[in-house]
Amino acid sequence: QAGIKARLLEINKEAAKYYYFQLKSARGQAAVDYLTKRQLSEETIKKFGLGYSNQTGDDIYRYLKHIGYEDDILRESGLISFDERHKVYDKFWNRVMFPIMDTNNRVIGFGGRVMGDGLPKYLNSPETKLFDKSRNLYGLNFARTSRKPNFLICEGYMDVIALHQAGFTNAVASLGTAFTGLQANLIKRYTTEVLLTYDSDEAGTKAALRAIPILKEAGLTVKVINMKPYKDPDEFIKALGAEEFQKRIDGARNSFLFEVEVMENDYDMNDPEQKTKFFNEIAKKMLQFTEEIERNIYIEAVSKKYETGFENLRKLVNSYGARL
Ligand code: GTP
Ligand code: MN
Ligand code: MN
Ligand code: MN
Ligand code: MN
Repeated sequence: QAGIKARLLEINKEAAKYYYFQLKSARGQAAVDYLTKRQLSEETIKKFGLGYSNQTGDDIYRYLKHIGYEDDILRESGLISFDERHKVYDKFWNRVMFPIMDTNNRVIGFGGRVMGDGLPKYLNSPETKLFDKSRNLYGLNFARTSRKPNFLICEGYMDVIALHQAGFTNAVASLGTAFTGLQANLIKRYTTEVLLTYDSDEAGTKAALRAIPILKEAGLTVKVINMKPYKDPDEFIKALGAEEFQKRIDGARNSFLFEVEVMENDYDMNDPEQKTKFFNEIAKKMLQFTEEIERNIYIEAVSKKYETGFENLRKLVNSYGARL
């Protein structure tokens, strides 16, 4: 008898195939329409193995039983729920399905999106013996062989897919969870530079601010793409196209200068007291740069932008820590 993980992999593969065939069947027409409305090509749908989970509440359960899987193992798959009375529910129904693959192209879990404005917008597989969100990235199975000089890190399934379809095959997503050190180390195997392309709303900005130190800690160079006035890469590309997005990649900002710009919003820069506080906060953060030449470059950039003398800011930085 094969090990549990191997059998769960089989089940996921069968489920992914089933969802895909449902999408292609008459029952999946609404899902096809939804994906078409979101401008995904047939080729893209195939590449990412997108599918559709039927409206009936136990469809995938019955299929998996039919091809020979027992309740015990199905319980572990995360695809099926059993209530106290042993009534069975599919976790995903009437959703567009996104198989999540590991770097060996094996399906380890799923995401499912409602077609329209229902809630919750996305459902994701629970943690299983196979699926650990904190150590996987959506799209990594493709991005790892993209031959681009860097990785793009975005928030969502649709961002990854839209970016790949537009030729940015180096895009991955952390899927709504906080970015982890394990994910940073995973990326480090394939590249030395990452460009954050999180949503331009407050949640996305906060997520970017949390990811930056984790990525730097792993030894990666981090830049931040400015997506404004659009909300995420999917919307940006739909509105302005791949060429404009490439310009945003080329113009990606240094992550420290991005952090400074975000911090600026917390202070009234017309008020001398507030502006002084701002400089103090920046000065503390400058201590992370332990090479004098690098630190001076940042001091110069910030002192110019916010109109204080280079020496002023340098003294302030030195007052917080070891002089260089
Ligand atoms: P679209 O509306 O399809 O373009 O999705 P989006 O990716 O732009 O959505 P959003 O920016 O709200 O979320 C980013 C990612 O967080 C999604 O791709 C999901 O992985 C995850 N996410 C979003 N909403 C939910 C939710 O309601 N539940 C869970 N578990 N995850 C979610
Ligand atoms: Mn959301
Ligand atoms: Mn978002
Ligand atoms: Mn979106
Ligand atoms: Mn989004």
